[in-house]
Amino acid sequence: MENGILKGKKGIIFGALNELSIAWKTALAVHREGAQIVLTNTPVALRFGSVGELAKLCDAALIPADATSVADLEALVDAALEHFGGKFDFVLHSVGMSPNIRKRIPYEDLNYDYFDKTLDISAISFHKLLSVLYKKDALNQGGSVVALTYLAGDRCVSGYSDMSDAKALLQSICRTFGDIYGRHNGVRVNTISQSPTLTSAGQGIEGMESMYEYASRMSPLGNADAQDCADYIVTLFSDYTRKVTMQNLYHDGGFSSMACCPEDLKLKV
Ligand SMILES: NC(=O)c1ccc[n+]([C@@H]2O[C@H](COP(=O)([O-])OP(=O)(O)OC[C@H]3O[C@@H](n4cnc5c(N)ncnc54)[C@H](O)[C@@H]3O)[C@@H](O)[C@H]2O)c1
Repeated sequence: MENGILKGKKGIIFGALNELSIAWKTALAVHREGAQIVLTNTPVALRFGSVGELAKLCDAALIPADATSVADLEALVDAALEHFGGKFDFVLHSVGMSPNIRKRIPYEDLNYDYFDKTLDISAISFHKLLSVLYKKDALNQGGSVVALTYLAGDRCVSGYSDMSDAKALLQSICRTFGDIYGRHNGVRVNTISQSPTLTSAGQGIEGMESMYEYASRMSPLGNADAQDCADYIVTLFSDYTRKVTMQNLYHDGGFSSMACCPEDLKLKV
């Protein structure tokens, strides 16, 4: 699949860590469709990860930034404006991490310093990013910003712990900033609620493999994988979705509309 629907567009992609990352697949997909990109991740992820290889494959500039640091985000956006020779068209926020989940601390006993970090990295960073882009007037008319979320932002999914709260906040920031951006210069802001996906972040969740299997059985189309997600993001960065904004878009093979799994109930479908 290659349609050149992003020819002439430019943007920043956050969160490519390794080949499994949704952002990694997205970088390759937007490059395939003709876009120019800047890749970013934390200085540590860039130093120790394989993102340099991805940058070569996509002919992309690599600029470090901790997404929780306004100073880093300002420097990143300035560098991107210089690199592209002016404003750009899209940004992918594919960033998330919970120290409470990493350390297997149960929800009823959250460490509150870690909770602050979860919210800062996984949700407030999105506000900081949108705010920096806005103040620097960095996005072209009709541009598009996408962040990644999960169903636990609107329904209870056992084990997703404080990431559920972070995702709920992320989705709310999307709506509130979407209103401001839409009226300002027609920039769209959306979240994609993605199927369980076997990435580094995904595999950090306890019970992820059984959730993955369960979701796959429940979803009429099966789970959406990272490549499917990348292709969906391409459409949201394109001009074909110019009136879609402030939405939480389910990209989950139909999982979120199902009440039970026909296979488990031994129903013939
Ligand atoms: N994997 C899943 O099942 C799943 C499902 C729905 C949504 N998501 C969301 O998709 C997004 C991408 O995750 P993924 O599954 O591709 O995993 P991933 O581990 O490949 O990506 C997470 C990225 O966040 C980056 N990151 C962490 N802290 C950061 C910081 N302070 N500043 C900048 N970057 C930072 C990491 O370096 C990493 O690149 C996340 O928001 C995640 O919550 C994942």
